[in-house]
Amino acid sequence: MRIAIVGSGKIGSTLAQLLLLAGHEVWIANRRGPDSLQDLVAGLGLRAHAATVAQAAEAAEVVIVALPFGAFQDLPADLLRGKVVIDATNYVVDRDGTIVAIETGQKTSTEVLVAHLPGARVVKTYNGIFWEHLRDDGRPSGGPNRRALPLAGDDPDAKQTATQLLSDTGFDAVDAGALSQGRRFQRGTPPYVQRYTADELTDALNWTS
Ligand SMILES: NC(=O)c1ccc[n+]([C@@H]2O[C@H](COP(=O)([O-])OP(=O)(O)OC[C@H]3O[C@@H](n4cnc5c(N)ncnc54)[C@H](OP(=O)(O)O)[C@@H]3O)[C@@H](O)[C@H]2O)c1
Repeated sequence: MRIAIVGSGKIGSTLAQLLLLAGHEVWIANRRGPDSLQDLVAGLGLRAHAATVAQAAEAAEVVIVALPFGAFQDLPADLLRGKVVIDATNYVVDRDGTIVAIETGQKTSTEVLVAHLPGARVVKTYNGIFWEHLRDDGRPSGGPNRRALPLAGDDPDAKQTATQLLSDTGFDAVDAGALSQGRRFQRGTPPYVQRYTADELTDALNWTS
């Protein structure tokens, strides 16, 4: 698959490594621009490309958002229309600034992102795993005690794509439901960053009705 990753930090670069290992082609973008990514992509191999955010978004079928949540308005909404967008971000008020709709529980951070990206097929996942665990905890499909990560979204095909990418990167997927259900595993909830198998995670996601 052709995958863009916006954000080349801890989560973005870790996902790039795992997705490349699984055979995908990856375009990586950040805030400073492609020149700053030359060393990173040189170390990642021939299927890794440094790009601007716009180039990455245009090249890819799937776009992973791996930047500080507060920068979401820099994402090029026109270029992401119709694409599968995976939201790996978390809202962190001290870093991202106060967003009233999130603070009051009116919207999840992913729903705020969706409002900025009309027509994008957004799935929330990868937000609830520390980058070191993302790097180290993945296991082949079918093995015992494989770690599971939750996902939420409103587009079944996009969720299927996200499920495949989770598996390709070493994790089972547990479908938490519609995008609004992302609140069950956002930052600060009981399942957040816990190491759970699929059965354990399914139970843990039911912490609220
Ligand atoms: N760290 C974790 O363990 C972890 C786990 C799960 C989820 N997350 C979430 O994932 C997101 C990224 O976290 P991180 O720890 O990977 O952060 P990080 O290491 O600080 O990296 C952030 C990346 O985002 C890029 N960026 C910032 N503003 C941008 C913009 N306007 N346009 C394009 N790129 C921009 C930065 O570009 P430059 O390099 O050019 O500055 C940098 O490459 C956050 O929302 C975080 O909450 C983190």
